[in-house]
Amino acid sequence: MLLGILGSGSGSNMQAILDAIDAGTLDARIALVLSDNPQAFILERARRRGIDTGIIDCRGFRTKFPEEAQQETAERLLAAGVDLVCLAGFLRLVKRPLLDAFPQRILNIHPALLPAFPGLEAWKQALDAGVPETGATVHFVDEGMDTGPVILQQRVPVLPGDTAESLHARIQIAEHRLYPEAIARVAAGPAHGGA
Ligand code: GRF
Repeated sequence: MLLGILGSGSGSNMQAILDAIDAGTLDARIALVLSDNPQAFILERARRRGIDTGIIDCRGFRTKFPEEAQQETAERLLAAGVDLVCLAGFLRLVKRPLLDAFPQRILNIHPALLPAFPGLEAWKQALDAGVPETGATVHFVDEGMDTGPVILQQRVPVLPGDTAESLHARIQIAEHRLYPEAIARVAAGPAHGGA
């Protein structure tokens, strides 16, 4: 199973995927890591492991993922032989033509129990809402924002005195366990809850 990773930030989820591969609990290889942010630490982590990297040129748009950039991204992932695309802290909305190039083959990790708290800074949304628990979700990506079919979820308690930072850190621990397991399920096919 060849993976392509898209990320905009630190890449701790990609690191968790690499750790699971190293530990033998995930039978996969990361073929390519692409980022819309040339400074993102995810690129540095990938380079240190000798993984091919590239920059997604979003034509100066701050949040939009323009169609030409989606097309280029799809072409690069296909050329690298990628079977499954994993969004790992990627901050732009994936649409056509990238979705069409990988039908039911793009996964995302979200720091809340979807459908609760879609969108940005979901841990902060949970804290502001005063809920007693939140969590993490791995789901297939569709046209919506954090709306695709759920693959796996894990609950995380909100503790008294939590700050946005402490809650996000607890959610990330759950994410790092969840993402490799969800990828393994998808790789195993529909009988195991995968695609
Ligand atoms: C994670 O919390 C993920 O759920 C969200 O962005 C964060 C990315 O963290 N979409 P990292 O770059 O994997 O460390």
